[in-house]
Amino acid sequence: MNTNNIEGKVVVITGASSGLGEETARHLSAKGASVALGARRTERIESLAKEINSKDGKAIAVTTDVTQRDQVKNLVDSAVDEFGRVDVMLNNAGLMPLSQIESLKIDEWDQMIDVNIKGVLYGIAAALPYMKEQKSGHFINISSVAGHKTFPGSTVYSATKSAVRVISEGLRQEVTPYNIRTTIISPGAVKTELLEHISDDDIQKTNKEYVGEVGLTPDAYARLVAFTISGPEEVDINEILFRPTAQEL
Ligand SMILES: NC(=O)c1ccc[n+]([C@@H]2O[C@H](COP(=O)([O-])OP(=O)(O)OC[C@H]3O[C@@H](n4cnc5c(N)ncnc54)[C@H](OP(=O)(O)O)[C@@H]3O)[C@@H](O)[C@H]2O)c1
Repeated sequence: MNTNNIEGKVVVITGASSGLGEETARHLSAKGASVALGARRTERIESLAKEINSKDGKAIAVTTDVTQRDQVKNLVDSAVDEFGRVDVMLNNAGLMPLSQIESLKIDEWDQMIDVNIKGVLYGIAAALPYMKEQKSGHFINISSVAGHKTFPGSTVYSATKSAVRVISEGLRQEVTPYNIRTTIISPGAVKTELLEHISDDDIQKTNKEYVGEVGLTPDAYARLVAFTISGPEEVDINEILFRPTAQEL
């Protein structure tokens, strides 16, 4: 019997090769969801899919670069081919190469805009036609505490994560006729590979020390994703902003 509103659902997860996406795939599949895993590192998502399937879960791995709209469409189409529908689109892929504007790391700005904003839009574009047809669905888009606050070094990252919140709120209003839920999750510090891509040595060091000290483990996030899915369909949890209790910012 479906008691958790997760069992039997088909969940597409971008950025499933590490950190928050990887942990959430395991968590949701243990609660009975079928998961379609997307990321660029094929070997990582294939090995995760194998692990999940070996525990009687249901998972497929589809190599996906979220900056390529055809690849995101292929990820969602593959989920529907394999599992028959798409219930949740978890637009989780993202990166955070923090730096001061004056460092002019323009390639990193482009990358954040492409992955953190366009990647989310491509995920919406890929799943929305199916959800409209089904008259049900759920978008979960990942912002950040940095989508609420800006600090030196976070300017472009914060801009992209603010954009995710704006896009999600506009989407929420527009898709109400189709019975589609829209949730923003804005995490504080969680220990993942996110800081590895900071190319400014000083900023990376400071952040690693801080997150190493106060950061949560990814299961905190996975449980909150599950919470937003598991509630009754008529209740749309619009945003969850969470931090480690010890995080001041
Ligand atoms: N950890 C935190 O403290 C924290 C706080 C607030 C918000 N967030 C957000 O949480 C999300 C997950 O991050 P994380 O902390 O789990 O970091 P992570 O361990 O570095 O994971 C990032 C994921 O995004 C994927 N990704 C990056 N570029 C991609 C691309 N072009 N196409 C497809 N996938 C791509 C990576 O996969 P591949 O490299 O294999 O493609 C990886 O699976 C991000 O949106 C991040 O901004 C994290």
